[in-house]
Amino acid sequence: MKPLEVRNLTIQYLTYRGWVDVVSNVDLDIDDKTEILAVAGESGCGKTTLGLAIAGLLPPNARITSGYIKIYGKNTESSRVAVIFQDALTSLNPILTIGEQIAEIYVHHFSMTRSEALEEAKRKLSEVGLPDSYVNKYPHELSGGERQRALIAMAIALKPELIVADEPTTALDVTTQAKVLNMLRSIVKNQSIPMVYITHDLALVAHVADRVAIMYAGQVVEYRDKYSLFNKPLHPYTRALLDSLPRVDVEVRELLAIKGEPPLPGVFAKGCRFNPRCPQVFDKCLVEEPGLRAVDNGLVRCHLYA
Ligand SMILES: Nc1ncnc2c1ncn2[C@@H]1O[C@H](COP(=O)(O)OP(=O)(O)OP(=O)(O)O)[C@@H](O)[C@H]1O
Ligand code: SF4
Ligand SMILES: [Mg+2]
Repeated sequence: MKPLEVRNLTIQYLTYRGWVDVVSNVDLDIDDKTEILAVAGESGCGKTTLGLAIAGLLPPNARITSGYIKIYGKNTESSRVAVIFQDALTSLNPILTIGEQIAEIYVHHFSMTRSEALEEAKRKLSEVGLPDSYVNKYPHELSGGERQRALIAMAIALKPELIVADEPTTALDVTTQAKVLNMLRSIVKNQSIPMVYITHDLALVAHVADRVAIMYAGQVVEYRDKYSLFNKPLHPYTRALLDSLPRVDVEVRELLAIKGEPPLPGVFAKGCRFNPRCPQVFDKCLVEEPGLRAVDNGLVRCHLYA
């Protein structure tokens, strides 16, 4: 059974403009227990909404209007999905030590005694590269990177079937980001806990992911293995995202930002949703919405590949 199967998923939010689509007909898969699927795209494209849906944590003003999510064949309510958010300070309890917070999971979910649970907490801390003594520290005594590690220790203490990590390192400096991401990657590979890794930063995708889904305006526009995507991006939006990455081999570091703004939810262009910003737009793009088509071992949503 697949760790993750998302089919034809459409999610709407109730806003002052009524119910609007934020995620539209999304299909995604994780086939293997050691796979990291990155979901990447600009702010507002629906990444977090998709991640919350996979974790079964959509807010009350959201509704799923089509499709389904299966985790090892089960629905989200009967699955154990751990979520790691960007901001560890708000996810950790400031008045409990790190050890107490991890131990609590073992006491409540796995019926351990307090001393067994504390021993287990130390083991989890060492798995994320923190020393035993950190069981006695409070969240404010840790650096940003250490707090994120503590949060990851809590997430894996739950023995999740799947991890959703939503911009888990955005608040950290570049070197700390790389260390925390390497650690997350080795947890996925060594403990066989598959991960959906959400980010707006393609440089991090290159570092962490196995497969990549590029989202634009609520849709998956390109879905391929990492090496194919970075070697030969197919969708004009993916190309624009890659062109906008800072490059070390260019003398003057010009950020080729993508012109225009992403659309508001529900206010999408007719035809291809990317057409107002696409450098390769042609007549068909203005009238007909492209479907996801199989190209080069992956899927691409663009009329150029019809
Ligand atoms: N609870 C909510 N109610 C109504 N609209 C929401 C809610 N949460 C998010 N939205 C809107 O839905 C759209 C998608 O939001 P989402 O947070 O999923 O995007 P994102 O891709 O994670 O963006 P970012 O990179 O900024 O985190 C945005 O336009 C956002 O304003
Ligand atoms: S369908 Fe047309 S507008 Fe959309 S990405 Fe492809 S070429 Fe650009
Ligand atoms: Mg988000």
